Amino acid sequence: MEKEKLIEMLNRDIGDEHAAIVRYMTHSYLEGEDTSIGASLLSRAREEMWHMHWLGMIIGKLGGEPDMTPAPYPHDPTNRATIFQSYIDYEKKLVPHYQKEAELVDDSHIRRVLLREAWESEYHALKFKKILNKLSPEEAKGLPGEENELSDNLVEMIQNSVVTKYQQMLQTIRDAWVFQSNGEPAWQRMDFSMTKMKQLAHSAEEIAENGLTPRLTASRIIVTGSLAEAMSNGVEDVRKTMDIHERLASDSEAQEHGGLMTNLDLTLRQEKYETDELRDRLSKE
Ligand SMILES: [Fe+2]
Ligand SMILES: [Fe+2]
Repeated sequence: MEKEKLIEMLNRDIGDEHAAIVRYMTHSYLEGEDTSIGASLLSRAREEMWHMHWLGMIIGKLGGEPDMTPAPYPHDPTNRATIFQSYIDYEKKLVPHYQKEAELVDDSHIRRVLLREAWESEYHALKFKKILNKLSPEEAKGLPGEENELSDNLVEMIQNSVVTKYQQMLQTIRDAWVFQSNGEPAWQRMDFSMTKMKQLAHSAEEIAENGLTPRLTASRIIVTGSLAEAMSNGVEDVRKTMDIHERLASDSEAQEHGGLMTNLDLTLRQEKYETDELRDRLSKE
């Protein structure tokens, strides 16, 4: 298979994996991570993260630009039963899809990755089927999500943190894939993207705990071939969320939420660490 065609194919797959992460994660937070349904969904989301990551590494290694826009995740949102049935259908469809793709590829690593994505999708369908079968009649008819107790203003501030951090996290992981041949500084991009995932989870959970859908909408990714430029953009990016988080930390309504304050405090310290590390690295270039 011609390289350009291969990158195109893998970029369609990465969009599907990305869609699955967003769907299972959002659903997990709406259920609550500490519920058995929520924990199971989060576990699937993590496995989809591996899937996305393997594809991203391959695309980066091939010299391609990973497409960081999630594809749509078709599902029937009527109730839990229809939602889980949609998940089963989605995963089942991926099995022959990845198997067919694997046949088109010569490279043994890429073929193995595609085949693994096929058989792991099969397990995902099985696990969702198990959840569906175990739902009580009330659960099956119902939908996840609690009532919102936050003001519109606070929701908007937290959503702003969600959408901005999500964009940063995607940018940083894109950089890690694209600059993988640079070694350690690219590993650090990966490291930062993982911290950002955690920070994003804090604010996304806060939104979903209030029955609202976290604003996980991808925005523009900066396509640069320069690692130094990517790092200095990274400093700018972190400044943006530090501003958002400082404003949130001084908001009187937000201050009534102890858990939110602790996470904000932690996030701000991590953001300062990241900025210091990047500045230091850039000054030594
Ligand atoms: Fe997957
Ligand atoms: Fe899956």
